[in-house]
Amino acid sequence: MCGIVGYVGRSEAAPILLDGLKRLEYRGYDSAGVAIVNGEGVQTRKCAGRIAALSKLMAQKPPSGSFGISHTRWATHGKVNDTNAHPHFDQSGKLALVHNGVIENYGALKAQLVEQGHTFETETDTEVLAHLIGSIYDKIDNNDSKGRLVNATREALKQVIGTYGIALLHADVPDFIVGARRGSPLVLGVGRDENFLASDVSAIVAHTRDAVYLNDFDLVAVERDKFEISSIDGETGEHQINKVEFTSEDISKGDYAHYMLKEIFEQPDSVRDAMRGRLNTEECTAKLGGLNMTAAELRDVGRVVLTGCGTALHAGGVGEYLIEQLASVPTEVEFASEFRHRNTPMTRDTLVFAISQSGETADTLGALRESRRKGYRTLGICNNVASTIARESDGGVYMHAGPEIGVAATKSFTSQVVILTLIGLLLGRMRNLSTAEGSRLIEALEALPDQIEDTLKLSDHIKSIANKYVDVSGMLFFGRQFNYPIALEGALKMKEITYLYAEGHPSAELKHGIIALVRPDLPSIFVAPDDGVFSKNLNNIEQVKARKGPIIAVTTQSGAKQLKGIANDVIVVPDAPDTLMPILTVIPLQLLAYHLAVGLGRDVDKPRNLAKSVTVE
Ligand code: AGP
Ligand code: GLU
Repeated sequence: MCGIVGYVGRSEAAPILLDGLKRLEYRGYDSAGVAIVNGEGVQTRKCAGRIAALSKLMAQKPPSGSFGISHTRWATHGKVNDTNAHPHFDQSGKLALVHNGVIENYGALKAQLVEQGHTFETETDTEVLAHLIGSIYDKIDNNDSKGRLVNATREALKQVIGTYGIALLHADVPDFIVGARRGSPLVLGVGRDENFLASDVSAIVAHTRDAVYLNDFDLVAVERDKFEISSIDGETGEHQINKVEFTSEDISKGDYAHYMLKEIFEQPDSVRDAMRGRLNTEECTAKLGGLNMTAAELRDVGRVVLTGCGTALHAGGVGEYLIEQLASVPTEVEFASEFRHRNTPMTRDTLVFAISQSGETADTLGALRESRRKGYRTLGICNNVASTIARESDGGVYMHAGPEIGVAATKSFTSQVVILTLIGLLLGRMRNLSTAEGSRLIEALEALPDQIEDTLKLSDHIKSIANKYVDVSGMLFFGRQFNYPIALEGALKMKEITYLYAEGHPSAELKHGIIALVRPDLPSIFVAPDDGVFSKNLNNIEQVKARKGPIIAVTTQSGAKQLKGIANDVIVVPDAPDTLMPILTVIPLQLLAYHLAVGLGRDVDKPRNLAKSVTVE
């Protein structure tokens, strides 16, 4: 987590850094800070709280200067307070550093530095790195201060175990910033007579659309009119300047009250974009060139493993049902964090997919690397085109959902499910799925954007339902088959942004324990379209009803008829094949969580304790 922005140029750095931090606030919002240098030395402003608090602080005493670094923090080491806010300094107080990641051996490094007489002001791992680089810098005997700073950074990083995306500057080295990465993203923005460093291009796209995505172990020396990239070992290599696909308008809220609401309402388009150019109506299959696999290789796939975290894992949950149903290929979904640390027995014909909106999630990246290390073909399903997961995988499928800023994932989920459907269709059509079945599925996929549009029209109705339940103590979510992962996802959305207790379960598990929780102030949400298991869901709904538990049902027209007089509230979504229902049923759950969170006065886009990309373990 954490967002980093650095600037070297001719303009005032403060507004550029502040604006960049606002764009990165989704990555963490425990505290924020800047260090800007002018002829008088390093000026630091930092405080606990959001960027708005930093902005106020800076307005009281504006720092001036045309180069600087800044940070928005998601704390891993040390309390959330003013002192632990980045930037952190070395012993001399001249070197300032911002960091995204975790220095795992900070304890040992700190002990060595303390022995050498260093004193520390904060509880962070980051301050140790600042001291380490500073102490090496001070020992290097050389008049070239730029080269000294680069070498000191390089030498210090060789001693570090852990992950980092860093930006640093030194009061004695004017117009010069050093950046480096290992495990945490860092992008160089190339401007005219100005250059930028950032955790993510959204922070700099208002200034330049030319970006160099740094690789692990890259170190970059940034000046106004040039930059030099080398590896931690000192080797230089080729780096391509890429054009950023989106503009600053794409990352604005528009007329929506929140990014989350905007992103929920973008789903007709994002779902359309996820399948654009990928449907082959003639052969009734999907075209997924990015997989980089021949037809023979695809035919040889004997097993699929889907891995990810949070919402991406839930999409994988739907994918497991989908791929087994459409292609009869045994498929498992695994928490990335578990998969990477256990020795899952896999056959050589296993195909692994790492699913991640950001493409930077540490656990998912760890799973991808572990899987590749063991020689399994590992593909990515990512939204962020330049992300580490996208770059390190053997191939994959991009979501093309556009930037997702709201911490609670919404449109990325439906895009992921669409892509997993396409994978199921492709593998299925090479196996047992008939032309007619393939063709029906394609037709149903093509109908989805309009059906999502219709589902979004339910927003006001869902808001009125949410208003009835603002006083509840929590919510239970139930679903079966394709909609069981939707129950999990509905519960995740609910807890993330309302802070209410919420859990998702397979409907039938109710009677094996959960029913003990049922009471009038704990509503049960049943995701129960009129599908192959509707009558089974109905039994479970009756069981809750008999125990006076309020029921909200997400169903289809014919299901609604049967739920009349049973469910307290009914949300009717359009009908679709069972395989595609999750894309429609999840939307009311996103809206229910959203409206309830707004009703409770929660900070919808930046819920407490969370951050959008979890780049730490
Ligand atoms: C979703 O609402 C969450 N914020 C979180 O669970 C998220 O899905 C998870 O951290 C994975 O992120 P990724 O898709 O960027 O890898
Ligand atoms: N470890 C640093 C801190 O706690 C950076 C945290 C992060 O990147 O999330 O301040």
